[in-house]
Amino acid sequence: MMGIDEKVRKTLAELGVNDAQGVESLFAELRKTAERERAELISRGAPNQPQRERFCKALRDRWLARKGGFLSQVDENWLKPAGKDLKPAVGRQFNELRRFTASLEFEKLVEALPLGSVAARPAPRDLTLPGLRRPLGSIHPVTRMQREIEDIFLSLGFWIESGPEIESTYYNFDALNIPESHPSRDDWDTLYIDSNTVLRTHTSPVQIRAMEKYGAPLYIIIPGKCYRHDNPDSTHSPMFHQIEGLAIDEDITFADLKGTLDFFAKKLFGEKVRTRFQPSFFPFTEPSGEVAVSCFVCDGQGCRVCKESGWIELMGCGMVHPQVLRNGGIDPDKYSGWAFGLGVDRFAMVKYDIHDIQLFFQGDVRFLEQF
Ligand code: FA5
Repeated sequence: MMGIDEKVRKTLAELGVNDAQGVESLFAELRKTAERERAELISRGAPNQPQRERFCKALRDRWLARKGGFLSQVDENWLKPAGKDLKPAVGRQFNELRRFTASLEFEKLVEALPLGSVAARPAPRDLTLPGLRRPLGSIHPVTRMQREIEDIFLSLGFWIESGPEIESTYYNFDALNIPESHPSRDDWDTLYIDSNTVLRTHTSPVQIRAMEKYGAPLYIIIPGKCYRHDNPDSTHSPMFHQIEGLAIDEDITFADLKGTLDFFAKKLFGEKVRTRFQPSFFPFTEPSGEVAVSCFVCDGQGCRVCKESGWIELMGCGMVHPQVLRNGGIDPDKYSGWAFGLGVDRFAMVKYDIHDIQLFFQGDVRFLEQF
């Protein structure tokens, strides 16, 4: 069988490769060989430092040398002479091969190659040698925030429910009592897939899905991604995270809502904080409210975190509208409930003192590794 050394010296035509599938398997063979040769070198090790450097350089040059390395031969003999119809496939595969060989980090092998074993004679593996360490990631701050919030509600006996991010207008709007004329149904706020399907704009549609699925009583929280046609700025992202809370039972009152959210705020921000409820409006709750917490940094005196107001806005909430209970198949004469919806990303900004929501989604390791 023809070895890789020989194959890279021939053109694709000479190798009888004339379709994209052939190109793909040829490149797959190359990638496999590169990986195997690297692994073999590591398991062989080197008897001493000069040899170690020599072995590593030899492997690097074999693949990457500008003159005569496998990659430059592939460029010369496969890519350049390829016909018009094969060239895009070969180009793509060549780029992939370049990326792949770069990821093998031949230049770092010098440190990884075990010293002391005998070259060219497979030594028994020394299991005490340090392995190749991949740096461990860290938990994303939004995930961390989400878990902290979840833990508080799980300890109260709530369970976690989820629903689809691609949602029907029925669940996202109609069933929640949001009429056709409501401004949030406008294209400017909602990302439509088609006239009956949207990227959900909030986690509230899962309220209805859960009512249909489980009936009452019901104690759930619903974390998940939401999408809005919002321009990115320091406090808005077109994709963000919410957590919905929903409690339905006999005799649930606004006092239960206040008590639960006050307990929640104290657990999350410290026993000293106070909560404030102000009237608001949501079509799916009646009455509705906005909850704020006294600033946990300045204790309500006014500082940078609370923008000198002494208060930090937390979430929207209210008593589930009787029509919404009915839409979910629950009898509003027998049951009542409360609900809230909060923005996890905004919570994380407040808790970790982060001034730009965009930092969460840019994937900059220098930012992420601080958590
Ligand atoms: C709602 O979405 C209601 N469904 C909340 C609710 C649930 C009220 C149940 C009553 C009962 P609102 O549009 O205010 O409400 O959004 C809730 C939170 O989502 C906001 O307070 C904010 O923290 C977050 N949010 C909204 N849009 C964005 C965005 N573009 N980027 C980041 N966070 C956002």
